[in-house]
Amino acid sequence: MLVQDHMIHITPTSHSRVGEVDFNNIPFGRVFSDHMFVMDYKDGQWGTPKIVEFGHMNMHPAASVIHYGQAIFEGMKAYKNDAGEVFVFRPEMNARRFNLSAHRMCMPEVEESLFVDAIHQLVHLDRNWISSAPGSSLYIRPFMFSTDEYIGVKPSETYRMMIFTCPVNAYYTGAVKVKVETHYTRAVPGGTGFAKAAGNYACSLYPARLAQEKGYHQLLWTDSQEHKWIEESGTMNVVFRINDTLISPAPGETILDGITRHSVMELAKDWGYKVEYRRVSVQEIREAADNGTLKEAFGAGTAATIAPIEVIGFEDGDRQLTEFATWEFAPKALKTLDAIKKGEAPDTHGWNHRVD
Ligand SMILES: Cc1ncc(COP(=O)(O)O)c(C=O)c1O
Repeated sequence: MLVQDHMIHITPTSHSRVGEVDFNNIPFGRVFSDHMFVMDYKDGQWGTPKIVEFGHMNMHPAASVIHYGQAIFEGMKAYKNDAGEVFVFRPEMNARRFNLSAHRMCMPEVEESLFVDAIHQLVHLDRNWISSAPGSSLYIRPFMFSTDEYIGVKPSETYRMMIFTCPVNAYYTGAVKVKVETHYTRAVPGGTGFAKAAGNYACSLYPARLAQEKGYHQLLWTDSQEHKWIEESGTMNVVFRINDTLISPAPGETILDGITRHSVMELAKDWGYKVEYRRVSVQEIREAADNGTLKEAFGAGTAATIAPIEVIGFEDGDRQLTEFATWEFAPKALKTLDAIKKGEAPDTHGWNHRVD
């Protein structure tokens, strides 16, 4: 796909660190590639977009983000196949969501084509950091935060947008054990749940830790008012297969509308499954688990693509599903989506961007 040239000012590093990396042994999210994208906003407009050597930056102690949390981010991945071709999966969707988040947090929007172009150029420059080994990819993290050096509570007038990338290996979670959360809340109607705002993650850490202390990996969030309706899980949307219907909580104000889920559900439609985005009650899922009609349950998100949920913890006890390997839909969706992302399966929806 052609992207507009935004005259991003590129200063390549003179010392690539890529030779120092053991690509078979990369701790997730702790290794950073050579370059980063930086663009500052002031006086009502964005300044020159730049790609520079990755490194630390200075911050003023009064920088508004540290105190009032105007911060948003995105996450996506680039893949390389054995032929050395590099692809990014649906970055325009991340660009759109980034601006939705920016709008809700009183932050300036970024032209979608610049967002996508910046990713293409950064990934192209650091393409040697992408391994073509099965499951490996380059995680891409765009983000924006407020930088006013002022401690009054008001929207900042200055911002920085950045993008860095991290090489990552296969993200194998194994089967996930989730606990239905019926006390704490991640998002409320009228709140920021649909935005990828940093604060949404901060407030979810404590309840998640309590669940982890009880042996669960993640929470299955429910609505804030009745705790009767399922919303999503940690950093994944959730999908249930009851008989031959794939069901997922309808996107709305309290759910982050994931790109992975959307893609998985489109595949499901292609393959003749019935797909429903609607309210899903805790009771419906518990009953389906008890009467054997809950055939599959999984989280969908960029990190793992698909994370099988084999145990769901309800207030009256855990329910165990059958093993992922025996499921009919999710393993096939995982394989197909991963192949599309590497340009190894037909991309009939036009999702993949080739980075030239
Ligand atoms: C809260 C939350 N829900 C869902 C998702 C899944 O979204 P995506 O498939 O776009 O990665 C994410 C990850 O970005 C998330 O942080």
